[in-house]
Parts: sequence; structure tokens; C-alpha cells
Amino acid sequence: MQTAEHKLPHLITALPGPQASKIIERDRGVISPSYTRDYPLVARRGRGALVEDVDGNVFLDFAAGIAVVATGHCHPKVVAAIQRQAAELIHMSGTDFYYPGMVELGEKLAAIAPGAGPKRVYFGNSGTEAIEAALKMARYHTRRDKFLAFYGCFHGRTLGSLSLTASKAVQRKRFGSLLAGVFHAPYPDTYRGARGVRPEYAAADALAHIEDELFKRIVDPEEIAAVVIEPIQGEGGYMAAPAEFLRSLERLCRKHGILLVADEVQSGMGRTGKWWAAEHAGIEPDILCTAKGIASGLPLSAAIARAEVMDWKAGAHASTFGGNPVAIAASLATLGVLEDGAIANAARIGEFILQRTADWRERHTTVGDIRGKGLMIGIEFVRDQRTRERAPELRNRVIEAAFRKGLLLLGAGENTLRICPPLVIDEEQADFAVRTLDACIREAESAL
Ligand SMILES: Cc1ncc(COP(=O)(O)O)c(C=O)c1O
Repeated sequence: MQTAEHKLPHLITALPGPQASKIIERDRGVISPSYTRDYPLVARRGRGALVEDVDGNVFLDFAAGIAVVATGHCHPKVVAAIQRQAAELIHMSGTDFYYPGMVELGEKLAAIAPGAGPKRVYFGNSGTEAIEAALKMARYHTRRDKFLAFYGCFHGRTLGSLSLTASKAVQRKRFGSLLAGVFHAPYPDTYRGARGVRPEYAAADALAHIEDELFKRIVDPEEIAAVVIEPIQGEGGYMAAPAEFLRSLERLCRKHGILLVADEVQSGMGRTGKWWAAEHAGIEPDILCTAKGIASGLPLSAAIARAEVMDWKAGAHASTFGGNPVAIAASLATLGVLEDGAIANAARIGEFILQRTADWRERHTTVGDIRGKGLMIGIEFVRDQRTRERAPELRNRVIEAAFRKGLLLLGAGENTLRICPPLVIDEEQADFAVRTLDACIREAESAL
């Protein structure tokens, strides 16, 4: 599907088309209504950054299965690795037996994780499992039981990770009491912080809240096992914490014997133009959690920890499917594609998009902020640039309009649109996306 002549969308029916409509109708009858579908895309196949729906319409995918297909859809090297492995050995359970791929991927992840010392790797199947592992590991190692997390961050939906998640109330509503001893602090908001857009103020305010309020009035830091943070918020709105905040947080953790856990489930695996968002700030988390882009779409996650931190004993934690041989083969192939140019491409094309959109705040009255690193870029929509009142409906209209023009996008947070394409997109595709988005914003603004 993705060839030199076919790199851009091609729509041949009204949307949704007749086949898509039938599938959506059947889906309504049987699939969990908890899923949030922003628009009616029914996918049949994908190649590179293109997705074809069941009616033959071709879309440019700037959502990448929620920032998952880092190497694009069905990258030939990933497909070949999956096919080879599936014909050899599909499952063995790495928690009870050994196989070479698990060791190879463990060594590779340990080598690329920030920090020079020895590391150990725990494999799970999803982002939330990596976070659960980090929580249990932190309690086990420190013999402390409390955690500090941040407003706006998303860490998953199982009951442990959900206790940290503070992104949208609907994600917690009616799920009862969660883990006790989880505290939340404000995330340093460089756009809406009380003192404006200066990152150093946002960092100082957020740090002061932890040291002067939380640690003095609510919880003694000596009781905290770990601070868990997304260095760049994903679901919360594609907002990066200032580097000085992350470095201060690291110092604070060291001072009080608290483990620093970086949730890089969304920001990791090269999406920001480096392997990890933590590298942009120069921090070395004690535990780093990653998933999404790790295996180009096969279910796999990892919690990578300093070796001395992962000191739990046999039987303490495990998962039947975690580190499945086929997912691991896909991951090894993915890592190869990433280091052979896709990460550098993410940095280059990300910069291209930021340059092409640099004047959007002047050209569009509803664009409040454009921010990002590599191919993790957020556009925040507001009713008024001065008051920064959020404009969620307008954001949603832009996403819907882009779909109608063949560009797949997702929202993040209340009023931000995220740009998270496969890391292998080229300049022509980025240019198409920028021009399409520009037109969609103009359309949505003129309907105000
Ligand atoms: C930063 C972050 N952490 C954790 C998760 C949970 O991952 P999963 O949905 O694979 O459980 C997500 C998912 O979006 C995420 O973005």
C-alpha cells in the first residue's frame, strides 16, 4: 500500500462506508461500551503510515494505534521476525523456562536504559503491568508503602496503576477505594502555571508544593517508596515537565531514599528523538517503565530497574505471558529499525513539524500552545489565547474534520490534540498532515 506513489490518503466512499457501518453496528451489540471511539474508522490493513479501511479508503495514520506502531504498520522486518518466531516457538513462559530472545532483549534494554550501572528487566504484556511491577518492586525493595504521583498523569487502569492515574475522573469513577497511601502533586504546567509560561517558575512552584506542603503537612518523605512520573505526559495532554524540575525531583528522591520511577510507556522507544524522554533532562530513573512502541504492536512491556533495586526473590512477581517469544522477536526487530534511523527520523521530522507550525499561534486564534519533542507533539486549543479557557469541542471538531480528509489523529487531555505518527513518516507525509490540520483548524474556527 505504501509505495512512492501511494504515501497519502485516498478516500473513495462517504465515511463511514457501507462495510464500516455494518461492522460498527455489530460492534455496538457485543463489544464493551467502555471503549472511546472518536470517529468511525474500521481498519482492515496497514502499511507504513497508511491504513486502509474495510471499504478501501486509505488514511494517513498520525495516531499510530495510540503511539504504538513505532516502525509503522506491518514493517517488513517486524513481520518477518514474527513469522519466523511463530513457526519456531510461540509460548514457553519465561517465568518458568529460559529462551534466548528474552535474554537478548533484556540485555539490549538494559544497555539503552539511562544510567551506566547494571540493570535488570521484568517483562509484562501492557503498560499497566509494567507500572504494577514498578509499584510492587518499589515496595519490596524499600519496605515502604507510599507513593507520590502527579495530577494529569496517566499510568494505566488496573487498580494499582489507577491509584496513580489522575488524568480524568471518569477513569476512576465507581471503581471504589484504590491503593491507600498514594499522594498527588501538581505537574509543572508550563502553559497554565499560575505564574505564566516560564518553565523555571512552573518547576519551582511544583517542587515547592512537594517540599513545603506535602512533605511538611501530609506525609513524611521517609515513608514514600517511589515517586512515579511521566517525563512527558501522554494522555494528560502531551505536556513535558521542565528538565530542571525532573533534575530537582531526582535530587529530592536521592535525598530521602525514594525511588524515582519514570513512566515512559508513551514517551519511550525513540518517540521523542532519543530513546527516552528522561535523556532530554539528563535524569537516571531507578525504574523505567516502557510499553507501547516496544514491539510495534505486539503486547509487550518492560520495567527496567537498577540491578540492586530489582532484588525480589523467586516467586515474588511474574506473568504467564509476559515476554512472550513472538512479542520479543517483534521487539528485537523493532529496536533494530529504531536504531537504524527511525529515532533520528523522529527528531528530524518532529523539528520540521514544529517549524511548519511555529506561527500558528498568530495565524489561529484558537491555538494556545504547540509543544513537543520528536514525534510527540501536542496542540492545545483555547477559546481565548489570553484567558486560556479550554476549547474541547473545537479540538474534537478538528479531529473529526481531519478524519473526513483522511488524516487520523487523537486527542489528549481535555483540549489538546496529539501528533504521534509512526517514527518512519517522511517529510511529504508530515507536510500533508500540517496542511490538512491547518485547513481543519481554519474550518472549525470559521464555524465558531
Ligand atoms: C504513560 C502511560 N502509562 C501507562 C499506560 C497504560 O498502558 P496500557 O494501556 O498498555 O496498559 C499508558 C497508556 O496509554 C500510558 O500512556
